[in-house]
Amino acid sequence: MTSKVTYKTDLEQVDWQAMKSTLAGDEFDNGRSPSQLQASFQNSYATVIAYADAQIIGTARVLSDGVCNAYIVDVWTFTPYRRQGIASAMMQLLLSGLEGQHVYLFTDDSVEFYEKLGFEVQAIGLGKVVGQWLQNKNSQQ
Ligand SMILES: CC(C)(COP(=O)(O)OP(=O)(O)OC[C@H]1O[C@@H](n2cnc3c(N)ncnc32)[C@H](O)[C@@H]1OP(=O)(O)O)[C@@H](O)C(=O)NCCC(=O)NCCS
Repeated sequence: MTSKVTYKTDLEQVDWQAMKSTLAGDEFDNGRSPSQLQASFQNSYATVIAYADAQIIGTARVLSDGVCNAYIVDVWTFTPYRRQGIASAMMQLLLSGLEGQHVYLFTDDSVEFYEKLGFEVQAIGLGKVVGQWLQNKNSQQ
């Protein structure tokens, strides 16, 4: 793909329905509605959305306390745009705002991608869904 890629770190005029549709079509949909996507991005410490012209083709966001701990989620590049450095650029934008913090993330199968950015595998991660997945005050929006 040869369109010009731009990176936005604000959430002005994001088409959440379009984000949802592209994620679903790219098999990277974890069930959030457009308004749940909006809430999760708005409640993040920092976000990056990559665009090819007006089309959303990448996302990444970070949860952080602004002091010592950060957690990166929703790192995704639309399949036709992969292996062009887009996710690396989004990660660098997020990491540049996390000086002095320990940054953690979980991945099933993208270890090599993160190692290239300087992440090291840590032996044990634990997780739990509290109650039912996606059922909370943002469910009805
Ligand atoms: C993982 C993902 C975000 C990478 O996005 P991308 O924009 O293609 O990444 P980049 O082009 O910045 O890749 C940088 C480097 O990471 C490594 N890398 C990226 N994808 C890789 C893959 N599928 N297999 C092995 N190495 C990979 C390569 O070393 C690559 O450099 P190279 O292209 O010069 O060889 C993308 O494949 C994706 O969206 N996957 C599905 C969602 C996902 O798994 N996200 C991570 C969840 S935690």
